[in-house]
Amino acid sequence: MNSIPLLETRDLRVEVNGIPILSGVDLEFESGCVYAILGPNASGKSTTAKAIMGLPEYKITSGDILFNGESILDKSITERARLGIAYAFQTPPRISGVKLDDFICRICPEYQCKAEDDQLMGESCSCKQELYDDFRTLGIGNLAQRDLNDGFSGGESKRSELFQVLSMRPRIMFLDEPDSGLDYDSLKVVGRELKTIREKGETTLVIISHHRYVLEFLEVDKVYILQYGRVVYTGDMSAIPLLEEKGYEKFLTDMTS
Ligand SMILES: Nc1ncnc2c1ncn2[C@@H]1O[C@H](COP(=O)(O)OP(=O)(O)OP(=O)(O)O)[C@@H](O)[C@H]1O
Ligand SMILES: [Mg+2]
Repeated sequence: MNSIPLLETRDLRVEVNGIPILSGVDLEFESGCVYAILGPNASGKSTTAKAIMGLPEYKITSGDILFNGESILDKSITERARLGIAYAFQTPPRISGVKLDDFICRICPEYQCKAEDDQLMGESCSCKQELYDDFRTLGIGNLAQRDLNDGFSGGESKRSELFQVLSMRPRIMFLDEPDSGLDYDSLKVVGRELKTIREKGETTLVIISHHRYVLEFLEVDKVYILQYGRVVYTGDMSAIPLLEEKGYEKFLTDMTS
């Protein structure tokens, strides 16, 4: 049995514009498992995911990020994405001039037609039907030919972002609050979609969240809680009701005293 985690951070320290944000984050993610990263606002959850993805303003001052046991610190975002690491933004950026369907067609090998580039998403494209079926499954068929996140509602941009990340068929995906701003019906759609991925067992899911709904839907294997830029609690979903009742401050004080 392989004992090396798919991805791990070791004593990860990160600063932005010279300000320390992460002060030694240790995390391990096994292949095919589901993780939740919780923690108060500004505790460093998004920063952790962005540093793992390699966003340039998140400067790693010490520590390491290992993928299959090998450091990826010298790898660019593109190289990390090619390894199979993906990040769905908490607030997805707007990219004018890039149509959602065209973009997804270019990043997903399974949707790519075998025709020449200039026929991508053309009328003759045989993969178009499959792509559009999947758009409808996520309830975003109306967004297919809109510019990326340009004027999308909050819930629309979260579902579109999720679709983009899923289309990359990553080995591990960090979903930064995939449930924020979603109505009850959309939550169910997203929960079901993620559950299907969990059941296939090919992708490690790391869900950053403040709410229990999607986490319970997915039956999370391990919960990490961050506070002040480090992991202060590791446990399972049994912590959630107590956390909801007490809030982070009291929960963490009681747990660590
Ligand atoms: N690009 C940036 N420039 C300046 N400060 C930043 C930047 N990114 C993160 N920070 C700061 O780092 C701290 C941690 O931010 P981060 O976004 O990681 O928190 P979070 O745990 O994801 O919080 P939330 O639950 O509110 O999303 C915050 O104080 C934030 O203002
Ligand atoms: Mg965040």
